Amino acid sequence: MRAAIYDRYGSPGVLRIEEIPTPAPGAGQVLVKVAATSINLSDWECLRGSPLYARIGGLRGPARRTLGSDIAGWVERVGEGVTRFRHGDEVYGDNLALKGGFAEFAVAPEKALAHKPPELTFAQASTIPQAGAIALQGTDGAADGVRVLINGGGGGTGSFAIPLAKRCGAHVTAVDNASKLDFMRLLGADAVIDYQSEDFTRSDEPYDLILDLVAHRSVFAYRRALALGGRYRCVGGSVSTMLRVLTIGWIAGRLTRRRIGVLAVREGPTRFGPLADLCVAGDIGIHIDRTFALEELPLALAHVGEGRALGKVVVTPA
Ligand SMILES: NC(=O)c1ccc[n+]([C@@H]2O[C@H](COP(=O)([O-])OP(=O)(O)OC[C@H]3O[C@@H](n4cnc5c(N)ncnc54)[C@H](OP(=O)(O)O)[C@@H]3O)[C@@H](O)[C@H]2O)c1
Repeated sequence: MRAAIYDRYGSPGVLRIEEIPTPAPGAGQVLVKVAATSINLSDWECLRGSPLYARIGGLRGPARRTLGSDIAGWVERVGEGVTRFRHGDEVYGDNLALKGGFAEFAVAPEKALAHKPPELTFAQASTIPQAGAIALQGTDGAADGVRVLINGGGGGTGSFAIPLAKRCGAHVTAVDNASKLDFMRLLGADAVIDYQSEDFTRSDEPYDLILDLVAHRSVFAYRRALALGGRYRCVGGSVSTMLRVLTIGWIAGRLTRRRIGVLAVREGPTRFGPLADLCVAGDIGIHIDRTFALEELPLALAHVGEGRALGKVVVTPA
C-alpha cells in the first residue's frame, strides 16, 4: 500500500510517499481502507516533535512512522474478537494511539471506531472525531448568557466549538489571527479578536468560560480574563504553560474563586458521536477548507501548521 512515512522530526519536507506492506489487524483491531483523513494540529505537532508532549513514546524520533488520526473509510478485515464491525462497513474514528491514517490502509482498535452516518461523506465524517470530542467537552458549561471565549477559534476545533457554544445561547468571543476573523463571525461568533493586535486577557468584561486551544500566556493573565466563578481550560499550547496551568494556575484559581486547569479530553465514539448527530440534523455545519491527495500531504500539513486553514483540511488516500 502507499503510505506517507517519516523517520525524523522536522518540516513537511521530511515526509515521503512509499510502498509498504499493508498492516494486519491484531486481536480487537480493524483494518480500515482509508477514504479520508482529516488533519489536526496534533499531526503537525507530531511531525515537528514540538511541543515536547508530541514526543511521548519517541523522544529522539517518531514512534509511529505514519501520522493521521482522524480516519474514515471501509472495513477491510477484522481481527480476532471484533464483534461490532464486518467487511465493507463504513466507519470513522480518532485513531490517536496508533495513527496511520495518511496511508491507503490503517489498523485501528475496534473501540476507537463508530459506524459512519450514511448522511455524511467520508470527508465530512473524518473531520469530527478529534476536533468534535474536544469541542464538545471544551464548551461544556456554555449556556444562555454565559460569556465564552475560544482562543484559537479559527481552526478545526474552533469551527465546531463556536457554533456549539452559540447553540447553547452563550455570548461567544473568538480569538485568532486577522485572516480568520470573518470566518469566525460566519461560524456565529458575537465578537472576534485578532491575537496579533489585541490581548484578550485585558478585556474590560471578563469571561465565564475560556477554552484555550493554544495556551501560551501566564496563568495570571488567564486569571485576569476570568469572571468570579469562571473557568479556564486549555487543551494544547506550550508544555511550560500547561505545566504552570496545572500547578500555579490551579492554586491561583482556587484562591480567587476561579477554576484554572487543563482539559483532559476523553476520546472515543461516545464522545464525538453527539456532534455527528448534530451535523446530520443540520444543526452544526462542517467546514472543510481544502481537500488534498495523499501525494500532497506535505502541502496539506503546511497549510494547517502554518495557520492558513479555515476550519478542517482533509486528505483522501483512497
Ligand atoms: N487529548 C487532548 O488533550 C488533545 C488531543 C488532540 C489535540 N489536542 C490539542 O487540541 C488543540 C486543537 O487544535 P486544532 O486541531 O483545532 O488546531 P488548529 O486547527 O490548528 O487551530 C488552532 C488555531 O489557533 C490559532 N493560533 C495559533 N496561535 C495562536 C495564539 N497565540 N492565539 C490565538 N490563536 C492562535 C491558529 O492560527 P494561526 O497559527 O494561523 O495563527 C489556528 O487557527 C491543539 O492544541 C492540540 O494540541 C489535545
